[in-house]
Amino acid sequence: MPNILVVHGPNLDALGSREPAVYGSVTRAEIDRQLEQLAATLGCAIECRQSNHEGVLIDALYASQPKVDGFLVNPGALTHTSVALRDCLAAIGRPAVEVHLSNPASRDPFRHHSLISGVASGVIQGFGADSYLLGLRALVTLLGESPHRG
Ligand code: DQA
Repeated sequence: MPNILVVHGPNLDALGSREPAVYGSVTRAEIDRQLEQLAATLGCAIECRQSNHEGVLIDALYASQPKVDGFLVNPGALTHTSVALRDCLAAIGRPAVEVHLSNPASRDPFRHHSLISGVASGVIQGFGADSYLLGLRALVTLLGESPHRG
């Protein structure tokens, strides 16, 4: 059974009240609950983490090794700023799917570039909370095609 770590970056703890016109009214707890339900039907184990601190997220990613097979990551604003998070995902070298509730490509110009996409297996964005569910399906399919060994 694949083990997946879901990582929510800064400000995603405020989902539900944070700019609902952009991010919808679903809370982070509800997203995690939906992911857990889907994980059960897909036959994978997930753990969900959120932090507003870059270093805490990086520590959590390293600490997940060697148990975790892949990552579902919404880096929040770190998407556009964090060489450190990108380097961490590259160093670990396990499949990562990047997800966003909004579609950053249709928003402010500073959101158009992701430092994370280059080390992600794929990106799903713009579908609200469904981005996470679509991302989990994609990641589980990917892990089934090329399971990690060792
Ligand atoms: C986000 C998009 C980012 O640009 C933003 O900084 C976020 C949320 C999203 O899920 O749409 O915090 O990652």
